[in-house]
Amino acid sequence: MKTLYVNAAVRSGSRTAELAREVLGHLGGDVTEIRPHECGFPVADEGFLAKRDKACAAGNLSGEMFSAARQFAQADTIVIAAPFWDLSFPAALKQYFEQINVVGLTFTYRDGRPVSLCRAKRLFYVTTAGGRIFSAEYGFGYVRALAESFYGIGECVMFSAERLDEYGFDADAAMEQAKHEIGVYFSRQG
Ligand SMILES: Cc1cc2nc3c(=O)[nH]c(=O)nc-3n(C[C@H](O)[C@H](O)[C@H](O)COP(=O)(O)O)c2cc1C
Repeated sequence: MKTLYVNAAVRSGSRTAELAREVLGHLGGDVTEIRPHECGFPVADEGFLAKRDKACAAGNLSGEMFSAARQFAQADTIVIAAPFWDLSFPAALKQYFEQINVVGLTFTYRDGRPVSLCRAKRLFYVTTAGGRIFSAEYGFGYVRALAESFYGIGECVMFSAERLDEYGFDADAAMEQAKHEIGVYFSRQG
């Protein structure tokens, strides 16, 4: 099984990455990591879009600009580590999605609707927050919508630990609880 680990956690002591490693440990298999914030993706300006449209129109999808999309399409399982930033996730992760949303590689259109070209059937979204995640719609909710409608990934699961930066809150206990929940989830998968 090939797992793609999209690690958008930027801090060296990241608690989000700590939970993601827990998920990866349960999954086993081959893991390839990509760190969107270290990829130096080009800004999706007019020139970039024109270059990409030209390559797509010519059916030339083997270039370096499509390597992240090819990698995503070929993975069996996706694990995303995304700290809760500004009610959502780091902008580098959005840039990553801009890079991998390629017609003809990760999805295509039939009768005007997106149809997946990806192998993955499972996506795990791991996040931690300083406060409460009172709405997951702009983080996990967005990724799930994308995964379900474009990439055909039916099983999208979020694992989270909240309130980690709250004064007096037992962050260690919250992390242990999240790890416990991850363990319970995988023990039920058999
Ligand atoms: C740029 C930035 C934005 C953040 N925005 C929020 C936020 O909107 N809500 C919140 O509860 N915590 C917010 N936090 C706190 C982080 O969610 C929290 O510290 C998280 O555990 C960081 O994950 P990490 O340990 O993986 O880096 C923010 C932190 C940073 C650095």
